[in-house]
Formats: sequence, structure tokens, C-alpha cells
Amino acid sequence: MKDTIILAYSGGLDTSVLIKWLQEKYKDDIITVTMELGQQIDLKKVEEKAHNLGVKKHYSIDAEEEFVLKHVFPAIKANALYEGKYPISTALGRPLIASKMVEIAEKEGAIAVAHGCTGKGNDQVRFDVTIKSLAPKLKVMAPVREWGLSREEEIKYAKEKGIPIPHLSDPYSIDQNLWGRSIECGCLENPEQEPPEEIYEWTVSPEKAPDKPEYITIKFEDGIPCALNGENLNPVALIEKVNKIAGKHGVGRIDHVEDRLVGIKSREIYECPAALVLLEAHKDLEKLVLTRHELMFKQQIDDKWTFLVYTGLWIDPLREALEAFINKTQERVCGEVKMKLYKGNAQVVGRSSPMSLYDKNLATYDVKTSFDQSYSEGFIELWGLPTKVANILKEKVKKEEKC
Ligand code: ARG
Repeated sequence: MKDTIILAYSGGLDTSVLIKWLQEKYKDDIITVTMELGQQIDLKKVEEKAHNLGVKKHYSIDAEEEFVLKHVFPAIKANALYEGKYPISTALGRPLIASKMVEIAEKEGAIAVAHGCTGKGNDQVRFDVTIKSLAPKLKVMAPVREWGLSREEEIKYAKEKGIPIPHLSDPYSIDQNLWGRSIECGCLENPEQEPPEEIYEWTVSPEKAPDKPEYITIKFEDGIPCALNGENLNPVALIEKVNKIAGKHGVGRIDHVEDRLVGIKSREIYECPAALVLLEAHKDLEKLVLTRHELMFKQQIDDKWTFLVYTGLWIDPLREALEAFINKTQERVCGEVKMKLYKGNAQVVGRSSPMSLYDKNLATYDVKTSFDQSYSEGFIELWGLPTKVANILKEKVKKEEKC
């Protein structure tokens, strides 16, 4: 009897080649899985392609909403920007794909799951760790990592086997979901060179953006965005809409020299219009409603959360423990943030919240204020005391050395 292998299938060249290669090498049945996480793929077409390549069965899964609720929203609450720049869009999607593959593998009694990641990136780590943690008995296969085929060799193999080759002239490697689009390879591997305009699909260049700014208002409840310009929207629709509006103003382009988990520095280009706008708005609102102590501590928790997810440890219990803290803080993160979108910039220009800790009476430079300035003198004495003592001693030692 034949064994079954479950393959994560995007419909692209790499994973199409994998179908044939796995069939030939192992003579097993291949079941493919394609997931829609908002990358706007034609699931029907991909399914057809998989069947044409002789798979035993194909699963098309629309997990867009689950992706937003369970992966993107926690990332917003954690202000997740890896190395201060990358909204970890790809990283957020991988564990969801991996966990669905495990579910299907169990249902189908498969012996292995396979993915098309190379041995140089972060994605292999995210897939492998999630699959091995959820189903230790399942074999994880990463044929691309194993065989080390170059793109040319892959194309040659595809031609020999009659596999359709999409965008032959396209030198870029692209991964996308609702939270962002990543573009690698080709001329982008030269970090000195400005990326060509042709790589961008979700954003216009700031030069071509409208000459008039556009204002948008985002409403948050419990740390998550729930309305745009006064209109309540479901999570997917809200992100889609912000992607469109911000992209139109050239907002969302990121050019990043990134430290991959495997130690390689790589030059990555992203287009993440909604992510940049919503993260900026969320962070701003937190500053209005959380105390200084909460903010300082949360920054460390956010960094840790983001690092865990970027490095493939979504499944680690620490993530949920960190989220317990984060969620507690988010109970007060509600209100509205007004943003100005203009020629590649998204700037917060106003915010309000029923939980605001901003007290105009305290902050004002008006004479009428509830802040008693006479307290400051004594406070400064004590605040500066250790510094003063240390410097008095330093001066004394200096003088003694001179004598
Ligand atoms: N550098 C990003 C990350 O590690 C993007 C990876 C994109 N993946 C891809 N297969 N093209 O999350």
C-alpha cells in the first residue's frame, strides 16, 4: 500500500516541481494543501493545477479570518515590528499553515508533511518547529533544502516533466498575505541599489501619490482596530481597506537589512500599508492610556513576543504567557486615532480615549493648573541625589590626585 505525503502547495514553480519530485522519488500519494491568508490567489486555479500534476487529493482552505483574529490581532497588540521595521507578515502566516497541514495529515493518515522552504531562510524553522511540536511522529520533508537545486536546474526539471512555469522572466521571490508582501532576490540582493519600481504592487511611489493629504480615523477596542472613519468593519475588510487607502498614498514600503535566525543578513523589501498604519496608530493610543511603567515594561514584552514569532517559536508556551500580560494591558486600549496619509508618510495627528491618562489641567502651561509647581523643587533634590553624591566624590578624588 502507498503512503501519503501532505504538501504545502502555493501553485508556484518550487512547489509544483516538488509534487513531481516526491511522486517519482517515493512513489507515494501526494495530497496538496493551499491556504488563502489574503494573498488573493485563485484557489480554483491552484487546485486545477495540482490535479493536473497528478495529486491524489487537494485541499483549498480559506483561513483569512482565522489568520487575522488569531495571528494578526495579537501582533497589533504586541506592536510587532521585527528589528523595528518588519511587521512579521510572513512569520505570522507560517504556523497557521503548518498547523492546518498537521490536521490534514492526521485526518488522512499521512506519514509525512512536506514544504518547499530552502535551508537558508526563517520559513523552514517556522514550519519544522510547529509541525514537530504538534505531531512529533510525523516526518517533515524539506526537499528543496535537501536537493539544493538552483533556479535554472529547477526550470530545466519543470520543462522535462511538463510542469507549467509561471512568470519565467520574473526574478523575484514573493510571499504575501493580508498583513504584507515580501519581495526578495534578483537585483534586490544588492543592498546599495534602490529597488526598481516594478516590484511594487500594493503601493504607488510617493512621487506619484496624490498631492492632497487624506485623513483617516481608526477606532480601537481592547487593542484591536474595529472601525474606520466611523464605519464598523469586520477584521478582514478593515485591513483590506486600510491597505488600499494607505497604498494609494505611497505608505507601506519598507527596505530592510534583516538578521535572519540562521545568521544571514539579508536585504528584504516589504509592502505593508495597513500594518504600518495600524501599528503606528495602536502604539500611539497605548501612549495615551497606559502608564509610563506599563509602557516601559511592555516594550520588553513586545520585543520578546516579536522575536519568538519571527524565529519560528509561535508554538512555545512563552508566547501565550506573554499574551496574558499583553491582553491585560489591552483592556484599556480603546479610543480613536486620526492619521494623515501623505506622499509615503502616515502620521498620527490626533487621538482620544475614554481611558486617556492625559490631563490637560496637569499639562497646561496656563497659570490655572492643578499641578503644584512647588513640589518639584523637593522632588528634584531627591531624584538627583545619587547623581550629585557620585559627582561630588568624583571631584574630590580628582583634587586629591592632583595634590
Ligand atoms: N524575511 C521575511 C521573513 O523571514 C520574509 C520571508 C519571505 N519568504 C519567502 N518564502 N519568500 O519572515
